[in-house]
Amino acid sequence: MKDLKDTLYINSNSCIKCNRCVEVCPAHIMKQTPNGISIGSANDCIKCGHCVAACPTGAFEHSSFPAGKVHKIDYSTYPSAEQLETLINSRRSNRAFSKEDIPLDLLKKILEAAHRAPTASNMQQVEFTLVTNKETLHQISAYTLNIFSKLEKKLTNPFLKPILKRIIPGVYRYVPKFKTMREEFEKGNDLILRGATAVIFIHTPKENRFGRDDANIAYQNGSLMAQALGISQFYTGFVCTAIRQDKKDGLAKILGINGTIHAGMALGLPKFKFPNYIDKKELVVKMLL
Ligand SMILES: Cc1cc2nc3c(=O)[nH]c(=O)nc-3n(C[C@H](O)[C@H](O)[C@H](O)COP(=O)(O)O)c2cc1C
Repeated sequence: MKDLKDTLYINSNSCIKCNRCVEVCPAHIMKQTPNGISIGSANDCIKCGHCVAACPTGAFEHSSFPAGKVHKIDYSTYPSAEQLETLINSRRSNRAFSKEDIPLDLLKKILEAAHRAPTASNMQQVEFTLVTNKETLHQISAYTLNIFSKLEKKLTNPFLKPILKRIIPGVYRYVPKFKTMREEFEKGNDLILRGATAVIFIHTPKENRFGRDDANIAYQNGSLMAQALGISQFYTGFVCTAIRQDKKDGLAKILGINGTIHAGMALGLPKFKFPNYIDKKELVVKMLL
């Protein structure tokens, strides 16, 4: 929520009137005037910190971003575009996990990377729940399969089937899979979390209209960091589907999450690294140049 007590101040001794803060402010709070830059209503500020980050002389002061929160960027430490390309090309959903636990400091790096992602209106309401407890991981898969059982009953109900098959035909290809997943789970083979040793759930308050968008952008930041750290991950789509089917918010209750879970990342140390990357389908792009 907006903190109305925020103060924005430009030190006229060090301001060089370069106009950068005016140009970058998404809320158009600053204006260039003949007497220098004037600051409008701080109530419109979304606390993105662009004014402070773009100022070349440190003249812009913002109460939300005191000196300790402002860091010089060393562009010479950037990965090259080729290095980034290699990372992106080699990121896979590797589900062959070792049983070894992921060091907590590496999981924290993934969380920090995800937390850095942009959010609509800079709301920054994305929160994370990290699960490494073995029983809870088991409970997550059991929960998912339980919801799928209920879904299966609905889908195969002789009265509902003719209607549902017309509305959601694609869902029916999962019906035999639900049964297989359940049977395998009973035998100790978890096809939901695939032996992941950690899961990160990404959630926002229920009222956040961009929660799902924000969470999924956060996910991608986190997944690339995981790849860079040599940690495997995959998107827990089955779990998220179960969450969306469940009107009672069962998983949020199990995990003590107050809000809506939008995304989940199953993680583990890889048993092996993929030696190859493969091409995706051809890039489809319409160029209106
Ligand atoms: C929205 C979404 C849901 C997914 N759900 C699952 C899932 O439940 N289980 C799983 O093993 N992989 C899941 N995946 C991973 C995809 O299967 C995977 O991204 C795809 O096969 C391409 O492989 P790659 O990620 O290695 O490039 C999901 C991916 C996305 C984007």
